[in-house]
Order: sequence, then structure tokens, then C-alpha cells
Amino acid sequence: MAPPDHDIAFQMSGSNLRYGPGVTREVGMDLREISAERVLVVTDPRVAQLLPVQTVCESLEQHGIHYDLFDRVRVEPSQQSFQDAIQTAQAGNYDAFVAVGGGSSIDTAKAANLYACWPADFMDYVNAPIGAGLPVPGPLKPLIAIPTTAGTGSETTGIAIFDVTERNCKTGIRHRRLRPTLAIVDPENTRTMPPLVAASSGLDVLAHAIESYTAKPFTQRPYPATPNLRPAYQGSNPISDVWSLEALRLMATNIVRAFQDPSDDQARAQMILAAAYAGMGFGTAGVHLCHAMSYPISSLVKNYQPPGYLDDHAIVPHGISVVLSAPAVFRFTACACPDRHRKAAEILGATTDRVPDADIGKVLSDQLLTLMHTVDVPNGLHAVGFSTDDLPALVEGTLPQQIRHLASRSAEGDDLHRLFEESMTLW
Ligand SMILES: NC(=O)c1ccc[n+]([C@@H]2O[C@H](COP(=O)([O-])OP(=O)(O)OC[C@H]3O[C@@H](n4cnc5c(N)ncnc54)[C@H](O)[C@@H]3O)[C@@H](O)[C@H]2O)c1
Repeated sequence: MAPPDHDIAFQMSGSNLRYGPGVTREVGMDLREISAERVLVVTDPRVAQLLPVQTVCESLEQHGIHYDLFDRVRVEPSQQSFQDAIQTAQAGNYDAFVAVGGGSSIDTAKAANLYACWPADFMDYVNAPIGAGLPVPGPLKPLIAIPTTAGTGSETTGIAIFDVTERNCKTGIRHRRLRPTLAIVDPENTRTMPPLVAASSGLDVLAHAIESYTAKPFTQRPYPATPNLRPAYQGSNPISDVWSLEALRLMATNIVRAFQDPSDDQARAQMILAAAYAGMGFGTAGVHLCHAMSYPISSLVKNYQPPGYLDDHAIVPHGISVVLSAPAVFRFTACACPDRHRKAAEILGATTDRVPDADIGKVLSDQLLTLMHTVDVPNGLHAVGFSTDDLPALVEGTLPQQIRHLASRSAEGDDLHRLFEESMTLW
């Protein structure tokens, strides 16, 4: 019998996750249980000075586990910074990894683990068409991920994102085997986030949730040659929908409180849960235009130094780079699945009973703009150093991003040009 044109299945791979205030100190026990003897702790230079890393190190010492500390993670990692961690991992013959930090640290630990276990040319596992997109050949060593932002959800995903500096574009490695063995999600760890880190990582949750919920359904994806070639990003599906919608609800209720008052334990606790929920949703369904467009924004940054980020290089923080295009993107995609955009707008607080489908994209976009303004997001691409002269390069950097094809309405060169243009100034 001939296979169908489109896929009829999706696969949800669960994450192993422990949640609770103070659970960071249990990591030594976890490593002892799997008989780990040599561990690499991966973090960035700033988080290395903070309580979460101190707690991890104390816990490892109490359990008699030898560890080395790699504290050279680059915030918004690059190919070079991934390779620095990979070399350390390959030289150290570690039998487990612990990542402590935001998405930058967790992604770096995933890459270090991958190439230490399965050495290869760096570009071999990197997403096609930028890399060869080879599948990960076999299991990796255990990786325990302890997020300190709320956040990327990287603790629950099989994705590692980095900047290919020489090509001016961000891309990633995507495979379910990269997913951490255990996520230790401890709301105490986000208490010290500066406001813009809280806003940026919180708005990443928002983008993950809405993009995965409005992604093309899995039934519109071509039938794979063999079932194991089903991609990590499979399209929206009934199980991801549950995680994505609940993530959006938690985010909508708590982001402003967590941003305004880091001592609001309840809001912080809900935000770090929202990040993990969104990770479970988008980690299976995928993200689309906001993320595809964010990659050249991150790579082409000139001199923007965000307040509260103490790093020595210019960056547009990931969540900001993603959300700046969100109002334009969802105005554009709403006509393809208005009911889903309506639901997102309602969760963000809009009353939509009398709004016709044709206007629902604008209503969602207005809700987003209000929220972005409240948490002090820079006012569009202009505010982070871009001008209309950059439009061709921004479009060029988006076109190779395969995730853009997951959008429920396809966006080609002219559409992308308009979406970037509309994102130059937001209010
Ligand atoms: N793998 C995935 O599934 C996935 C998903 C989304 C984003 N990402 C990637 O994650 C990266 C962004 O990660 P992020 O937004 O979590 O932030 P981050 O790791 O880049 O850190 C941002 C800043 O916050 C600081 N910081 C982190 N935790 C802190 C704390 N508790 N107290 C004080 N300062 C703290 C860091 O030192 C840094 O200066 C990007 O590279 C992005 O592409 C990955």
C-alpha cells in the first residue's frame, strides 16, 4: 500500500523533571545514584558567582563526586564558545554533565556532551542547510540541567542554539538525544535575575507558547521516509497544545509581577514552571516565524548593550530578539488559523466575542504590545540598533531557517521584508 502524502502520527517524548524550591541541593544524590565519578559543571562567568553554582558544588562535594567547573559559557553562544566547551569535555573524559544557568549554559552543555560522546566535524550535526543535519548516532552521557532563568525551556528540549559567526546567522542542533536526562527546576534559582533578564526570558516563554500553538498541524507535514526520520519539530498536535496553552496562561498571570518584584516567590515559581511547560510544548511542536526572524537579529547586532546584562559583547537578548517581531508576525499568520490566535488573545486578556476573524490578528498584536511596553521591552528594531538599511540582510538571514516553514501561513522574501519593516518601531 502506498504511504499517505502527509504524516498521520506525532511522538511526544517526555521530560524527566523535578520541581521545587531548594531541589538544586539534591543534584549530588542524583549523580551518586547513577555512579557518576567525574562530572563537568557548565555555567557562564556571572552565574558562576551566584548561589545556584555554589549549591551545586557543595552538593557534589558532600557526595564525594569529583567535578571540574567550566565557567566560560558565552551568553548567546557562538560556534567558538561551543567548541571551547567541547574541547574541555573531550579532554576530561567525564561521565556526566551538569548545566547551571540560562539557555546559554544548558545549550553549551548539550553540545559539549554530544561531541565528547560522538566526535565529528562540528558542522555534521548542525541543522541543514547550514550544517549536514546528521542524526545523533547513539545515546549521550547523563546531563542534568538546572535553569536559572525562566526561560528558554532548554532543560526540557533536545535543542542547542548557537551563532555561526562567520555566516552571520544563528542555528542549532536538534535531536531528541540532546534532551537533558533530568531537569532540576528550582524557583529559588531565578531570584537574582535582573529585570531585563526576567522580561526577556519570560517573553521567550510567550513566544514559545503562541508559536507552537499556531504552528502548522503535524498532519500537514510530509510523510517521513521512515518513522525515525520524523523531525524534532513535528507541528502543532493535541498534546503540545495542552502544554503550550497552560504555559501561556501561567506566563500571562505572572510575568509582570515577577518582572516588577523579584521577591514575589509565587510569581517566580509560576514563571519557571511556565518555561518548562512551554519547552514541552514547543520542543515537540516547534516554533516558527518569530524565532526564524530572531536569528539574524541576534547575529547582526552591532552595538546594543542591554541594561542588566554584564557581558562584554553586544547582544540582543534572545527573548527580546524573538518578541520584537511577534506583533507583526501574529497579525500576518492570524488569517490561517483565526481560532488559535483568538484563544491566545483571550488568554492574554482580550475580550474577543464581537471581534470578526479578520481583525483577530490585530487584537492579539495589541495585547502583545501592551504587555511588552509594561515590561520595558525596547521599542522595536530601531531601539536595538537596526535601521531600514539592514532589511535585506535580515531577510537573507531568515530565508535559510527551516523553522519558518512551520508557520501556518508561509512567509517568503517580500513578506519577511514587510514583517521586519513593521517591527522597526512598535509604539
Ligand atoms: N535549547 C532551547 O530549547 C532554547 C530555547 C530558547 C532559547 N535558547 C537559547 O538560550 C539562550 C538564552 O538563554 P536565557 O534567556 O535563558 O539567558 P542566558 O543564559 O543567555 O543568560 C542571560 C543573562 O542572564 C544572566 N543570568 C542568568 N541567570 C541569572 C540569575 N539567576 N541571576 C542573575 N543573572 C542571571 C546571565 O549571566 C546572562 O548575563 C539563547 O542562546 C537562545 O538561543 C535555547
